[in-house]
Amino acid sequence: MKERIEQLRASFHEALAACVSGQDLEALRIEYLGKKGHIAELMKGLRDVEDKKTAGQLINGLKTEIEAAILKADEEFKRAEIEARVRQAKKYNPTLITERELGSYHPITLATREVEEVFIAMGFTIENFSEIVDDYQCFEALNIPKHHPARDMQDTYYLDNGQLLKTHTSAAQNSIMKKYGAPLRAIFPGRCFRNESTDACHENTFFQMEGMMIDENISISNLIYFMKTMLSEVFKRDVKVRLRPGFFPFVEPGFELDINCAICGGDGCPSCKNSGWLELCPCGMIHPRVLEEGGIDTEKYTGFAFGLGLTRLAMMKYGVKDIRDFNSGSLKALSQFKSK
Ligand code: PHE
Repeated sequence: MKERIEQLRASFHEALAACVSGQDLEALRIEYLGKKGHIAELMKGLRDVEDKKTAGQLINGLKTEIEAAILKADEEFKRAEIEARVRQAKKYNPTLITERELGSYHPITLATREVEEVFIAMGFTIENFSEIVDDYQCFEALNIPKHHPARDMQDTYYLDNGQLLKTHTSAAQNSIMKKYGAPLRAIFPGRCFRNESTDACHENTFFQMEGMMIDENISISNLIYFMKTMLSEVFKRDVKVRLRPGFFPFVEPGFELDINCAICGGDGCPSCKNSGWLELCPCGMIHPRVLEEGGIDTEKYTGFAFGLGLTRLAMMKYGVKDIRDFNSGSLKALSQFKSK
């Protein structure tokens, strides 16, 4: 009996060493520990043995040894299997996106940031303002009373409660004056809306950047200096501009600052309504009534304001021929503007 036990112990360890998978191991377990396995067979053989106690202990010893060895080997196989799976996953993972399309900033965002940087360097703060405003903010506070013909040019979308989508960033002027008082230097970019028929240089939704500087002794020369600095910083090249009188009820005097069309070089094209010039930045000295409405002491302070057409600026800077491309959602067009 003793010999038989030793024989089985040796053959078990040999077979265990030859196992290469969990399946092999299971087969071995059945062969030795199963109902009709070697251990069961040894137990049966006890009947014919004289010293049952010693033999029984030996058999149990072998059984415990086999159980422990199988358990240990089983754990090792399982660990190896997991490691193999992880290794395999590193090679191929069907859920892994390898070539991810990164988005890019919208050209108007890029242009906005560039203008912002220039004005921040000159001590301006950046203000945020809502797109829904009331009649007072958009018109009344800007010296455009009801039935004033200037309202014709700025028809917009009205809400049932009488509020409206702002037609220009000037709608924020009054609130900002009231918020900060004088002296004041602020720019406020924003989306504007007008009920317009669209063409290559008109959209019903577009972006402007309003700027306001109020202080003692502010004059037209300050206005011209800031406009020139901004344009040369943003375009980083010489741009031809012209200043001509322009009428806006909230400035006096008022100007239209036009830029030579960068698309056609001034020859005339659909992007500039064939004039060779593009109205880029209407501006002027803030009307005393508008200052008063904003709580500013007009005896002491004067100021200028401008309404830079950010969308047009982006068109000129990047050579975009059709303003409608900006809102088209066409990734083919927009993804060309990779972020800085
Ligand atoms: N708000 C005017 C417009 O959109 C532009 C403007 C702004 C003119 C500031 C003068 C001063 O038409």
